[in-house]
Amino acid sequence: MTPAAPPKRLFIKTYGCQMNVYDSERMADVLAPLGYGMTDTPEDADLVVLNTCHIREKATEKVYSELGQIRLMKLARQEAGGAMTIAVAGCVAQAEGEEIMRRQPAVDLVVGPQAYHQLPELIARTHRARGERLAADFAAEDKFDALPTARNASGVTAFLTVQEGCDKFCTFCVVPYTRGAEWSRPAAAILAEARSLADQGVREVTLLGQNVNAYRDPDAGGGLAALARALAKIPGLDRIRYTTSHPRDMDDELIAAHGELDAFMPFLHLPVQSGSDRILKAMNRGHTVEAYLKLIEKIRAARPDIAISSDYIVGFPGERDSDFEATLALVRQMSHASAFSFKYSRRPGTPAAALPGQVAEEVKAERLARLQAVLDEQQVAFNAAQVGKTLPVLFERLGRHPGQLVGRSPYLQGVHAQADPSLIGQIAPVRIEAASKNSLSGVLVESPVQAPALEPL
Ligand code: SAH
Ligand code: SF4
Ligand code: F3S
Repeated sequence: MTPAAPPKRLFIKTYGCQMNVYDSERMADVLAPLGYGMTDTPEDADLVVLNTCHIREKATEKVYSELGQIRLMKLARQEAGGAMTIAVAGCVAQAEGEEIMRRQPAVDLVVGPQAYHQLPELIARTHRARGERLAADFAAEDKFDALPTARNASGVTAFLTVQEGCDKFCTFCVVPYTRGAEWSRPAAAILAEARSLADQGVREVTLLGQNVNAYRDPDAGGGLAALARALAKIPGLDRIRYTTSHPRDMDDELIAAHGELDAFMPFLHLPVQSGSDRILKAMNRGHTVEAYLKLIEKIRAARPDIAISSDYIVGFPGERDSDFEATLALVRQMSHASAFSFKYSRRPGTPAAALPGQVAEEVKAERLARLQAVLDEQQVAFNAAQVGKTLPVLFERLGRHPGQLVGRSPYLQGVHAQADPSLIGQIAPVRIEAASKNSLSGVLVESPVQAPALEPL
């Protein structure tokens, strides 16, 4: 009998959006059968995977500086007679391909987001010989068909990819190039994965997609609303969120579902990007400010307690002071629970990179600071408005202080409360007593009714 191969250590660092977080988990799942277990320290990893993001220049540059550090670790390992394999995955892998190995020759393989199911084979191959080492082409085969369905859930909440890619081609954005065209997973596969997550104790899923509300079941043709309705029937799955949506795909059925489905949390991330129609047009967003506001009105009519979050870009080419003021005016009108805001980053190959009127760095920085001051104020005010209310909190883990648990409100706020650890994985009412910019704290109002976890509907 040949002795069992020694266990190998895998270190994965994840950059960018939730889709990458999900993909990193799946990469760990697919490498486990090769004997790879996770480690938190890259120094002693046999395989280091950087799951990268290309969205802004800073994100891409971070990857190269990290690779410089990891190269030194690899050299130290080699000097000690060992070996380390370095793999670059994610959107930089897709966008830059072989260029990555030219810039950092310590990299052994580059694997694009649609080729993760090929990882075991690629890793095995690099272990054997350092020959062919690139797999950044879009695979013809659906990556999810080839990935194992068994998934190890590690908590009470989980991400679940339902859609990938983007056909919108906003002129600033690399995603249509790094993630390819819009496609959706069959509802049957998603439901199977969700059932397995619920069986493992997951109570809340966040459905992921670059344009998640463009979801369309390739088999039965249902949209995101139909998918959510089916998911909400899974015993134990009490909360459903989805991100990121495009205003153009927010159809009436989905809006109505917000009013009908208890499982839909009253929090929606719906990026608008700018408050100026001139800029929205140059961005190729396909909607005006008025259309966005009408949409918000409709959504609020269906679900009056819904909180809205958004993304904003300042300093898009040609953005004048008056355009920026229009963005500030929209933000004031929206009154967000939270929102992300970014300085426009010029991405090679995107149409906006070639536009005249690129905005000076100092102007972008000043506009961003002004915008963020308003958004911070709104977030503080939104959190403060919860004080005195009783919110259902899904407890996720132990807090930092003795006896404390941390959970989430329906609005995605972190909530701290003194509670028994047996409440992890349960939804319990908490009366909110204090609020800060980033979290809430309160007291448990009563013990939750202990519904059997797998009660049939
Ligand atoms: N629909 C996508 C959006 C991905 S990018 C999703 O699934 O999340 C996330 C946000 O990054 C965008 O909404 C936009 O506000 C910002 N962004 C994208 N490209 C950018 C660029 N070139 N410069 C600055 N911000 C950008
Ligand atoms: Fe990028 Fe626009 Fe597609 Fe979102 S909708 S991923 S911002 S191109
Ligand atoms: Fe970044 Fe790719 Fe996500 S570019 S934001 S990791 S889709």
